[in-house]
Amino acid sequence: MNKNSLLSVQDLSTNDIIHILSDASLFHVSYSDWQLPCSKALVANLFFEASTRTHYSFESAELQLGCKVADILTSASSVTKGETLYDTIKTLEAVGYNAVVIRHPRDEYYKELEGINIPILNAGDGKGNHPTQCLLDLLTMQQEFGTLKGLNVLICGDIDHSRVAASNKTALEEFGSTVRFCGPKEWEREGYETVDFDEALPQADVVMMLRIQKERGAAMHGLSDVEYLQQYGLTKERYKRMKETAIIMHPAPVNRGVEIDTELVETPKSRIFKQMSNGVLVRKAVIKRAFGYASFEEKKG
Ligand code: NCD
Repeated sequence: MNKNSLLSVQDLSTNDIIHILSDASLFHVSYSDWQLPCSKALVANLFFEASTRTHYSFESAELQLGCKVADILTSASSVTKGETLYDTIKTLEAVGYNAVVIRHPRDEYYKELEGINIPILNAGDGKGNHPTQCLLDLLTMQQEFGTLKGLNVLICGDIDHSRVAASNKTALEEFGSTVRFCGPKEWEREGYETVDFDEALPQADVVMMLRIQKERGAAMHGLSDVEYLQQYGLTKERYKRMKETAIIMHPAPVNRGVEIDTELVETPKSRIFKQMSNGVLVRKAVIKRAFGYASFEEKKG
């Protein structure tokens, strides 16, 4: 496996994360036109699951960096003829691709890709990991609070099926923040501290709402959308009880009127669209790293 791959946030040291976030911020201010100096940046994107933000922000980042991009239509690839994921990626490597971005429904699909030499960037594996989403969430919190230490983060909803919850728990705890979870009992996850939404809400700096992952078998347990919103979602009434300085986050896609009241998606406290813009910056930083370039700060030092 290439050492510049990014499979999970666990693979990154605190320092690595600091460097990625610093590069992402610098891409926003002084390096917005920076491109990969190498001409050999042929990147393939393979999305075996639906995606709008992750897919197209990776693509935007790749194009901004001057990469040549192939969007592989997975439904038209030989995977449909029974080829293994390994053979598909090995083929892309053999025909000249220099890096690959993969989203796949299987947890830790990348474990079968040990023999691949080009960097692999994980764009989400089942309910396992979503490292670039986590990094863009960290960047958003850092911009807001100036630190990732001592924050009180409340993640609400379908915790059990969420790779976003899993990745954020790991990284935020490493930085010294508190991450707690709430939602229907059926979706609690072992080892995750569960709290009552209404009790925990007034202390939270970040309220991160999650979509119900129906494609992973999550069921609404007989609740209608309105009932779910009232019991477990961010309603206008709950919004009023948030801290003055608190923010709302959501990895999106948002199911308006289910996990969050539609009017709250674009309130002043919402950072949902800011997260998406930050996603491009973080992915630029991660692709730059994948091609072996030191962070801007390291290079200066
Ligand atoms: C999330 C994902 O795919 O894990 N979305 C995203 O990447 N922006 C969350 C979700 O799909 O609900």
